Amino acid sequence: MEIQRVGIVGSGIMGSGVAEVAARAGFEVVIRSRKQETAEDMVARMARSLDKQVEKGRLEAGDRDAIVGRVSPTSQLSELAECDVVIESVVEDLGVKKHLFNELDSACKPDTILATNTSTLPVVELAVETGRPDRVCGIHFFNPAPMMSLVEVVRPLTASDDTIAAARAFAEACGKQPVEVKDRAGFIVNALLFPYLNNAVRLLESGTASGDDIDTAMKGGCNFPMGPLALLDLVGLDTSLAILDALYDEFRDPNYAAVPLLRRMVAAGQLGRKTGKGFFDYSR
Ligand SMILES: NC(=O)c1ccc[n+]([C@@H]2O[C@H](COP(=O)([O-])OP(=O)(O)OC[C@H]3O[C@@H](n4cnc5c(N)ncnc54)[C@H](O)[C@@H]3O)[C@@H](O)[C@H]2O)c1
Repeated sequence: MEIQRVGIVGSGIMGSGVAEVAARAGFEVVIRSRKQETAEDMVARMARSLDKQVEKGRLEAGDRDAIVGRVSPTSQLSELAECDVVIESVVEDLGVKKHLFNELDSACKPDTILATNTSTLPVVELAVETGRPDRVCGIHFFNPAPMMSLVEVVRPLTASDDTIAAARAFAEACGKQPVEVKDRAGFIVNALLFPYLNNAVRLLESGTASGDDIDTAMKGGCNFPMGPLALLDLVGLDTSLAILDALYDEFRDPNYAAVPLLRRMVAAGQLGRKTGKGFFDYSR
């Protein structure tokens, strides 16, 4: 099946990033947010970020106009009806996503692939909310989506080979490297990454070292491009907590049990970059 029209649901960090990736790759993109103005703001933000690339000489002005021209903002799920694939990228909450898959199943044409960008949640539980469980899979981009080369294509028990092949081809057409993984919490990357991130918070909470020194140590000692606390701030502490909770629910491994400091920061609304404060301060 050839994918031409892509729907994105959710206009947060990942929805915006994936919309930009798909529009740059030449797909027609419909971005749906619950409010029309939020969807329009997202397209305006994308245009501003592309403007900066034009100023730096990394993008032609004509290409910027073409990319932005391919993106249509909407608040209506019915506008996704003719999409060949819809990638859901709303809050990491199984109840919210299940409800959305049910609605997408009614709104979209019968052969639309319904994909989730979830980091950890069971994809099969979304598939069985629809009348097309064979056409549901995970297409998991990484943050920031325009820069990160990997896409995990997640195969729930119900998915057909055609769906997985189309998801892989779509990721490649977006210039990404797909890997295929079974529907297990955390897939490959987050199952391996989150015990490390959680243990960095544990070190901070126990007073072993300052946040700055923990991040400096992992950058200088392991040659990582970012420290673990800065990475948690980039991902969003609410999303990170939801990921750890889902991993712990599935495997009961104590390495996945979220450190209390992380939970308290989320309760305090300190969610990282998106709120201006997390382990570090972004308000200036
Ligand atoms: N942040 C990351 O690094 C990252 C990376 C890969 C995948 N993901 C996954 O992408 C998805 C979105 O994460 P994000 O980081 O973009 O989050 P975000 O907080 O930036 O955005 C969440 C979006 O969900 C919408 N939303 C919230 N409640 C909703 C509801 N009840 N119904 C419909 N929409 C609702 C919000 O308006 C917002 O547009 C999650 O499943 C997350 O696990 C996140």
